Amino acid sequence: MKRRRLVAVFAAALSVASIGTGSAAATGFFSHHHQDDTEQALAAALRDREPKNVIFLLGDGMGTQEITAARYYQGVNNELNVDRMPFTGFDTTWSVKPAATPPYLPDYDPDSASTGTMWATGQKTLDERISQGPSSAINVPGQNLKTVLEIAQKRGMKVGDVSTAEITDATPAVLASHISLRGCQGPTDMGPCPLETKGAGSLGSIAEQEVDHKVDVLLGGGRNRFAQTIGSGPDTGKTVIQSAQAKGYQYVTDAAGLSGIKNANKPVLGLFHSSNMSLEWTGPAASLGKGNAPTACSENQRPTTEPSLAAMTDKAINLLDNRRGFFLQVEGASIDKQDHATNACGQIGETVAFDQAIGVALDYQRHNPDTLVVVTADHSHTSQIVGEDASGTGIPTGYSTNLLTKDGQTLSLTYGTAGYGNAPGAPPVAVPPSQQHTGAVVPVWGSGPGALGVLGTNDHTDLFDVLGG
Ligand code: CO
Ligand code: CO
Repeated sequence: MKRRRLVAVFAAALSVASIGTGSAAATGFFSHHHQDDTEQALAAALRDREPKNVIFLLGDGMGTQEITAARYYQGVNNELNVDRMPFTGFDTTWSVKPAATPPYLPDYDPDSASTGTMWATGQKTLDERISQGPSSAINVPGQNLKTVLEIAQKRGMKVGDVSTAEITDATPAVLASHISLRGCQGPTDMGPCPLETKGAGSLGSIAEQEVDHKVDVLLGGGRNRFAQTIGSGPDTGKTVIQSAQAKGYQYVTDAAGLSGIKNANKPVLGLFHSSNMSLEWTGPAASLGKGNAPTACSENQRPTTEPSLAAMTDKAINLLDNRRGFFLQVEGASIDKQDHATNACGQIGETVAFDQAIGVALDYQRHNPDTLVVVTADHSHTSQIVGEDASGTGIPTGYSTNLLTKDGQTLSLTYGTAGYGNAPGAPPVAVPPSQQHTGAVVPVWGSGPGALGVLGTNDHTDLFDVLGG
């Protein structure tokens, strides 16, 4: 049904393009309320030109299971915002292993740093590495790689980086920093990266580099990283926050402060949590065996002093919108973190919040059709939708949670990629350990000029070109 609609819209858009009679030719074909969105997105994508603005939204760990769990929890007939996007493809996300010289052999189960380096720079690298190439060992720095954000800045575009994680976490970091290990986030976290401090003549920690890059809008968590004191280089003795303020940044720490910012001519640093930002939803813990009696999630749990991802996205767009265009990255980070934690409601709440941010981007695109919107995940993850009536030999081996959906049905999610003690043959431990990423291809969605680049099965490195690299 949906596919037929898309094909028909495509034909209509092509006829508009070829006979040049404007949108009237496409009117009246469809009654669906997404008709205008889809036609507009198609027409924009079919125009042979570069987008003025690029909005890239990344759901960390949001594989097909995660987006489907959020979809089904909300009710099978309630479409998500991402469903408004007309083009969909798949990307492989394999990273590479260390080697003294090429070839670097594939690692099928990547992390956010190596996959981030893929879409941000177009190059494969080692897990834990931030926009540097591969090398002989993880603690041997690789070659710094140019990022889409740096390219956008060079073109005179404004740039923004938004995340619900620490803004120094892997995904936001890959755009505006280059470092061998993702853990080197603040000036006093540099122990594992001794060759890359400013004192060693290098670029310094991720927090320092993000500020040095003069990213126009930096919004997320991670205040404790920026509160660390710089130990070498020209800003020695200042915290990274003070260094940012000396460079002209407006600094805010809560939702009211963010709303109050009116001056788009000076950069903005918004740090709304000491660590990762608070979760939207809570719910029952996962357990071994069949799991809990079906329970609804508790929504609206985020303290209102912290802005939602949608609110950060809206404010970032407002601050970045200018006649020379902008590049904005928005990460829904805790989909991954709650998937690791076997927290089904936490994971779904973050996915729904991420989808609301997608809605903000698409609403902006509706009025600014020269905007490319791309949505993807960085890698697949552990959660699986399994049978609600599991019994006898059908009981899941992992940690399970049963949720009461808005359709009044039981949605059973199980997490089974980690759970055994280290001893061979040991039984699963009662407290779930951190679950693993998985290696399946991830979905990619696109709309707007240049969005046709997401179609088909590609590699995450190919997104670099789509995003303007
Ligand atoms: Co990730
Ligand atoms: Co993860």
